[in-house]
Amino acid sequence: MMNTKRIAVCPGSFDPVTLGHLDIITRASKLFDHVVVLVSKNIMKAEASFTTQERKEMIQRVTKDLPNVSIDILNGLLADYVKEVQAIAIVKGLRAVSDFEYEFQMALANKKLYAGAETVFLTTTAENMYLSSSVVKQIANFGGDISHFVPSCILKDIEKRLVKENGHVN
Ligand code: PNS
Repeated sequence: MMNTKRIAVCPGSFDPVTLGHLDIITRASKLFDHVVVLVSKNIMKAEASFTTQERKEMIQRVTKDLPNVSIDILNGLLADYVKEVQAIAIVKGLRAVSDFEYEFQMALANKKLYAGAETVFLTTTAENMYLSSSVVKQIANFGGDISHFVPSCILKDIEKRLVKENGHVN
């Protein structure tokens, strides 16, 4: 039977989730009946700093006030997951021109693998233009202030992990 709910999937590494991600997830939750935030492995990136379970739990905490958002972990291809849950869209945030080529490539590949969903790009807000998980990790690693970049309820967990990893003491 056709799923009558308009489901979107919002995939990413979320290592860790930032205010930029949260903005995209929140805006997507207003456009679709249900949004699945999908914690995924990016094989092009170095070893993650947080386990997929930790990343899932952090997203759970920061999205607890969004009733139509759920979180899942991807273990295979995104296109297969999208097909399985009958999602109509893959939502991604687009920051700058530098994001475009890679995102365009993924959108085309996913469309080829499963034609039943569209990739939808939401443009980032001006204040999140420069923000990425890597920027957050670099600042935290050297003991810098990341409170403007990540949701406050996960700030301490991120600092504890990243600062400890590098032997810095706050
Ligand atoms: O936050 P990221 O690292 O830019 O997200 C990239 C991600 C995880 C969405 C992408 O690597 C992905 O979709 N991985 C799942 C495996 C897959 O389906 N790869 C083919 C995409 S063309």
